[in-house]
Amino acid sequence: MTNVTLRQRLRPVSRLIPHPIRQRLLRMWRDILSLPARMKKGARPFPWATMHDVGGGEFYQVGRTIRDQLIAEAGLKPDDHVLDIGCGTGRVAFALTDYLSAQGGYTGFDVSAPGLAWMIRHMPPAAAPFRIVRADIFNTEYRQNTASPASAYQFPVRDADVDVAFATSVFTHLLPADAEHYLKEIGRSLKPGGRALITAFLMSAPRQAKMDKAFVPFFPFGPNAFVGSPKVPEAMIAFDEDTFLRWIDAAGLKLDRPVVRGRWCGDPGARFQDQMILIRPGLA
Ligand SMILES: C[S@@+](CC[C@H](N)C(=O)[O-])C[C@H]1O[C@@H](n2cnc3c(N)ncnc32)[C@H](O)[C@@H]1O
Repeated sequence: MTNVTLRQRLRPVSRLIPHPIRQRLLRMWRDILSLPARMKKGARPFPWATMHDVGGGEFYQVGRTIRDQLIAEAGLKPDDHVLDIGCGTGRVAFALTDYLSAQGGYTGFDVSAPGLAWMIRHMPPAAAPFRIVRADIFNTEYRQNTASPASAYQFPVRDADVDVAFATSVFTHLLPADAEHYLKEIGRSLKPGGRALITAFLMSAPRQAKMDKAFVPFFPFGPNAFVGSPKVPEAMIAFDEDTFLRWIDAAGLKLDRPVVRGRWCGDPGARFQDQMILIRPGLA
């Protein structure tokens, strides 16, 4: 007997609802479900899903899980300088506050003012200096009141200044030229021997052939991308895998280990998005 979840059963019906409306309804539903956890005595604050600058799962638990992946897979150490690309509401930053030492440091940036405001308001104390930067960048999904493209943005760090960079659930919201540029910026920011953990949706011919199993249908968007919503391409975007690997190479980066395949496209997998560990070759 196959194990079909309620979500899978409802998928044909839910696909009749336009994507942005479905997303809004889902976020409202998640907020309603979160009320008992918010009202618990001594509960720590966590952002509302309708704020939209944070991925799914329990805020603190997901932050700790990603921090532990950074330690185990990207070699993060307490004295490192960490760069958080698209830090959202800071769920990983919070988990780093009691990990990084006074010799370490954190730089995080994002385009969304409400997410950053929430993060700054609720930030736990930390031994390491934490620097949080609001990037003036246009994004159809997250920030429309500016014209500056991500493809012209310089990350707020010096060349070869960062030991470990990460971008969780951010490349899934970047247009192709922006994603290519962000990989170059990762290459510029990392010290030789430094590593980056990034997540993305990587499309290949076999995956494209079974898009009916993906969490949303993806439509071709230009020569090397696929989007969930052509009207709001940055709502969720997948990249042709070969193209993405070429961009990694052109950024002076290498895959440090094989891609961990996510279950976003209907394949089995412990992680939702595809995950890559990149390394800037050279002596640490
Ligand atoms: C799904 S959230 C993930 C947030 C955070 N990385 C996390 O894992 O909790 C996507 C984030 O990417 C940010 N974002 C979108 N475009 C960006 C860009 N060009 N540069 C930096 N951040 C961006 C959004 O504002 C949003 O906070």
